[in-house]
Amino acid sequence: MRVRAARAADDAAFASFEHGLDLKEPWADEVAEMIDTLWAWRSSTVPEARLQDRCVIVAEEAGRIVAVLAHQLLLAESGQPYARHRYIRLVAVNARHRRDGYAASLMEHVLDELQQSGVVTVSWLVHPANQASYLFCEAMFGAVAETTQPADEKPYLRYVVTLAP
Ligand SMILES: CC(C)(COP(=O)(O)OP(=O)(O)OC[C@H]1O[C@@H](n2cnc3c(N)ncnc32)[C@H](O)[C@@H]1OP(=O)(O)O)[C@@H](O)C(=O)NCCC(=O)NCCS
Repeated sequence: MRVRAARAADDAAFASFEHGLDLKEPWADEVAEMIDTLWAWRSSTVPEARLQDRCVIVAEEAGRIVAVLAHQLLLAESGQPYARHRYIRLVAVNARHRRDGYAASLMEHVLDELQQSGVVTVSWLVHPANQASYLFCEAMFGAVAETTQPADEKPYLRYVVTLAP
């Protein structure tokens, strides 16, 4: 597996990413849309995007993208980013490559890099009905994450992980 930052030429691969989602599920549309528009999100020039320092990372196998991960800074009401914190917006693996450890490896790779760059905490949201995502998070981080269900995010669960110093 080769991990690298996304580039403009990946746009077509994102648009045709085999997400395998059942779009009848209430949470799935949003995930499919996030994958489809990854490059537009990453390359947006709105002021908020610059402050958020949007990052898209891809994992390749034999030159083909098998997994994607997007992360960003979160902005406080003042508009300033929270220091030493990153929000993981999306992790997705090509439907034909699920349960091969790609999401786990990509997450570990990115969390390592973030930790080395001085990030202390990482958070993300999980829809509890997104079974694969929920079970992935529980298997990988259930023992170490702080999990809450904030009223303003319901029904999403928020995971917060403190990175080892
Ligand atoms: C969630 C997702 C990223 C997991 O990717 P993956 O590469 O299949 O996950 P991994 O192979 O790294 O799984 C690691 C562990 O998580 C758990 N896990 C992952 N998917 C699971 C599933 N469908 N059912 C049960 N456990 C699961 C297992 O413990 C697994 O280890 P094991 O295979 O040795 O039992 C993938 O299912 C996906 O892309 N879903 C669609 C996109 C999405 O909804 N993303 C989340 C919202 S942003």
